Amino acid sequence: MSISVPKVVLIGGGQIGGVLAQLCAIERIGEVVLYDIKEGMPQGKALDIAEASRVDGSDVRISGTNDPICLVGADIVVVTSGMPRKDGMSRDDLLTVNAKIISEVAENIKQYAPNSIVIVISNPLDAMVTLMQRVTGFPANRVIGQAGVLDSSRFATFIAWELGVSAKDINAPVLGGHGDTMVPLVRYANVAGIPVMEQLLRKYGSAEKAKDVMDKIVQRVRDAGSEVVKLLKTGSAFYSPATSAMSMIKAIVRDSKRVLSVCAKLNGEFGVKDYYIGVLAKLGRQGAEQVVEFDLTKEEKAMFDKSVEAVKTLVGDMDRLGI
Ligand code: LAC
Repeated sequence: MSISVPKVVLIGGGQIGGVLAQLCAIERIGEVVLYDIKEGMPQGKALDIAEASRVDGSDVRISGTNDPICLVGADIVVVTSGMPRKDGMSRDDLLTVNAKIISEVAENIKQYAPNSIVIVISNPLDAMVTLMQRVTGFPANRVIGQAGVLDSSRFATFIAWELGVSAKDINAPVLGGHGDTMVPLVRYANVAGIPVMEQLLRKYGSAEKAKDVMDKIVQRVRDAGSEVVKLLKTGSAFYSPATSAMSMIKAIVRDSKRVLSVCAKLNGEFGVKDYYIGVLAKLGRQGAEQVVEFDLTKEEKAMFDKSVEAVKTLVGDMDRLGI
C-alpha cells in the first residue's frame, strides 16, 4: 500500500512565505517545507510554527531549510522570492531585480521538482509567471500566478463594506494583469447572485451616484496594494496574498475544480495567444485545467486588451534585457 502525503514547498521565507507556511499547517495540507537562502530564518519560522502544533492541532510535518534539494518530491511549489516594493514604486519597477532571482529559482524547480505545479506570487506578477514557465519549460497548466484571487477579494471586501454585508456573499471577479490596468468586472459583481449595481441603485436612488460609488471602489481595488505599502512603510501586503494562495493550493490538492481568478496562459481565449494574464480558470489536480471564457462588452474587452498590452510591454522589456 502506498499512501502519499502531498508535499508543498514554499520558496521564499519572507512575510508571505511565513504566513502561508502557518496556513498550510493549520489546513493540514500535507508536508510543508519553507525554503530561503537566509541562514536560520526558514528553520526558525518552521520551528516556531511546529511548536504551535499542540495548540492549533496542525499535526503535519513542517521544516525549514536553505538547501534547494528540499524540492525533491514536491507536488506544489509556491514562489514568493524577490523584493517587495517600497512606497512610490510600481510593481513593474521590480522587474530586473526579481527576474534574476526568479530565473535561479526556476532552474532549481526544473531540476529538482520536474512534476510539480508552480504558483508564483512574486512581482511584477504576470512577467514573473511568464519567466517561470519559460525557464522550467513546464506545460502552461502547471505554472500559474496568484494575483486575481487577491484582487477579487479586495474588490469583494470594498463592496461588502459599502453594502454593509458579509464579503463571503460577494462574488466580484477581477481580470487582467496584476497592475494599475487590472479590470474589476463591475457588471458581473454580485451579492448572493444579485448584481451589485442594482443594490447600489436601490441604496442611492440615482444611477449617477451609484456609478460614482462604484468608480471609487474600482479605483481603490487598483490602488489597494499601494495603499497597504504606504501604511506599512516597509514591505507590501502579506496576509491577504498568502491567504489567497492558500485557496489555490487547496483547490489543487483537493482537486475541487474551483473557478478562481488566476494568472494563466491564454491560448486564444479572449483573443489572446501565448501570454499570461489574469482570467477565471478551473483549478484541480492538473493545475489550471481550463480557462473559463465568457462574454465581455466592448468596453470591458477594451480594458482587458489595454491590460494585456501592459503585460506585453513588460514581457518585451524582459526580452530586450535578455532575461
Ligand atoms: C499586492 C502585492 C503583493 O497586490 O502585489 O499587495
